[in-house]
Amino acid sequence: MRVIVADHPLIAHKLTYLRARETDSPTFRRLAEELMTLLAYEATREVRVEPFDIVTPVAPTTGIKLANPKPLVVPILRAGLGMLEGMVRMLPSAEVGFLGMARNEETLEAVTYANRLPDDLSGRQCYVIDPMLATGGTLAMSIKYLVERGADDITAVTLLCAPEGIEALKQEIGDLHVPVTLVTGAVDERLNEHGYIVPGLGDAGDRLYGVA
Ligand code: URA
Repeated sequence: MRVIVADHPLIAHKLTYLRARETDSPTFRRLAEELMTLLAYEATREVRVEPFDIVTPVAPTTGIKLANPKPLVVPILRAGLGMLEGMVRMLPSAEVGFLGMARNEETLEAVTYANRLPDDLSGRQCYVIDPMLATGGTLAMSIKYLVERGADDITAVTLLCAPEGIEALKQEIGDLHVPVTLVTGAVDERLNEHGYIVPGLGDAGDRLYGVA
């Protein structure tokens, strides 16, 4: 798995306000979308494109557009929804599938509770979006799910990661024969005993939507 930490002052600046506990939900939602838009620049560097001809007011030329099959963006419910708009703004012709995963707060294991994805993902580039890579369980399960349905190139985009989660994810998906890239805004210090990223930003879903 390739890991790209998007090291940019605008990302660090927006992450700082996202982390601060006094940041309210509307501001948190705006920042999460803006961060996703900035991360999309890195995440889509290898998106598949095809040439097509246009005419400018001056001369004919060849441009590019997204190739078929179109990429699939998969927000992990519920917190991934907070990043969706920031991604589809950059990739308006992408399709969107949904995967509902929650972690059992005692075992910290991921459980699937909703799935709205095309059955056949053959040849699709998939962008899985979830703000927090903590234990890695949710992302590992989502990535395996997409690969089982034929996805052949997966990019996971997170706002923050714990080093333990990155290692666990590498172990879990190590034998999938599909290229996986992780793009993140920052790698934090560690996970605490409750599975929260430290210093992190708290519970991303609660901070986005204000309810548990
Ligand atoms: N999920 C969150 O929302 N926050 C964490 O710190 C870890 C997992």
